[in-house]
Order: sequence, then structure tokens, then C-alpha cells
Amino acid sequence: MSSDMTRRAFLGTVGATALAASTSQAEEADRPKAGSVKIVGLACSPRLGKTTAAAVKVVLEAAAAVGPNVETELVELAGMNIPVFDPAAAGSADFDKVAAKLTDPKVAGILVGTPVYFGSMSSLCKAFLDHCMALRNKNFALANKVAGVVAVGGMRNGGQELTIQTVQAALLAQEMILVGDGRPTAHRGATLWNQGDDISKDEIGLATARNLGRRVAEVALALRGPA
Ligand SMILES: Cc1cc2nc3c(=O)[nH]c(=O)nc-3n(C[C@H](O)[C@H](O)[C@H](O)COP(=O)(O)O)c2cc1C
Repeated sequence: MSSDMTRRAFLGTVGATALAASTSQAEEADRPKAGSVKIVGLACSPRLGKTTAAAVKVVLEAAAAVGPNVETELVELAGMNIPVFDPAAAGSADFDKVAAKLTDPKVAGILVGTPVYFGSMSSLCKAFLDHCMALRNKNFALANKVAGVVAVGGMRNGGQELTIQTVQAALLAQEMILVGDGRPTAHRGATLWNQGDDISKDEIGLATARNLGRRVAEVALALRGPA
């Protein structure tokens, strides 16, 4: 590691450094606790409560099942005003609200869920990730958080893996730590098949979702260190 990214600095961003003696009690309450993590799942479909949200929920449930020290939260972007990103325009208040959740030091893992739109992410997902340039410019505020990606398509092989890779490209540029679905499926992430606005019959896809949730939680906990 370079001198400006020592092990101490690295662990600091994932929440495992010793507390500075001078911190106030309030600051201390806001700090991440060693041995516990929060994982936020973003559903980036413009359709509220539909299959992308359902898939992200499955992933979050599997993450929470890793242990009582894993807190989870689902955030749906549907209905939020997150316009196409224009570097010259003012930001988005809705983006700022979600960004505040993601950059909370307690959040050690982030899931990005998107429907497959013509073999790539939804335009809402792309707009959101483009707005995240503001976080990159803010000293890489998402750096060293664990990231997993969920893609839901209307076809079994409708481009889920390709979609996951396009999202991962944006997350890599944030210095996030990418993981795929863990064993035994162990590929790029959660790949689900929507059959009539229902993912419950897609056993293989559900297995990738559960394995992703477990993997994100386990890696996030490992990085944070023991209690
Ligand atoms: C504009 C558009 C493009 C789509 N392109 C694909 C595609 O390339 N491959 C695929 O499998 N499904 C495709 N779909 C289907 C959606 O990915 C699928 O219905 C998904 O489950 C929708 O997510 P939601 O229920 O969260 O809205 C497309 C849907 C739309 C609206």
C-alpha cells in the first residue's frame, strides 16, 4: 500500500480503527461498531415494489441471516427525482438523501439492483451511478465499502451478467470492493429471471441472490474486524 493508504487508513474507512481518544460521546455513537455492519440494498427500477425490489430483498434477507450483527435496509429509487446527470446542473435533493445513507460510516456493504434494459442497467440506475461522481469527488466517500450487484431480466439469459458488469465498472471507479455471489454458484452476482412479475419460481436465480447476500455480509464483517 502507498503511504497515503496505509493499513490503518484502509481499516479506518471500513470502520475498524481504534477510536480516537478525543472523540465526543455523540461522535462515538455514530461510529461503526467493530463486529457489526449495515448493508443497504438499492432497487433501481422505476417500478416501485416490483421484481428488482423483490430480488434485492432476497439478497438482504440472506445478508441478515449471517448474524444478528448484520443490519439491512432496502432503498427504492422508484418515484425519486434523480434526473440524467448533468455536470453543469445543480444536484438532486433525492440523490443527496440516498447518498447520505450510503456514506454513513455504519454502512459497510451496498447492493445495487437493476432491471435489465436492453442488455444493460436501467436509465435510473445509470443516472444514480453518474450522480455518484459527487461522492468520488468527495475524497472517494464509497471507497472500501463492499459492493454486490443484482440484475433481473425478463429472459433467463436476457443479459443479466452483462448488466452486472456495467454496474461493476462504475463501482470500481469508486474504489469499492466488489464481490460476486458466493459458493456454490460463485459467479458475477445475483442473476434473476422475472416470469410474469414474479421471481419466486426462479430457483437458480434465487440461489445466486442468497449467495450474494451471504458473501457481501461475510466480507463486510471480515473487513470490519471482530468485536
Ligand atoms: C426498456 C426495457 C428493456 C428491457 N430489456 C430487457 C433485456 O434486454 N433483457 C431481459 O431479460 N429483459 C429485459 N426487459 C425486461 C425487464 O428487465 C424485466 O421485466 C425486469 O424484471 C423489470 O424489473 P422491475 O420488475 O423491477 O421493473 C426490459 C424491459 C424494459 C422496460
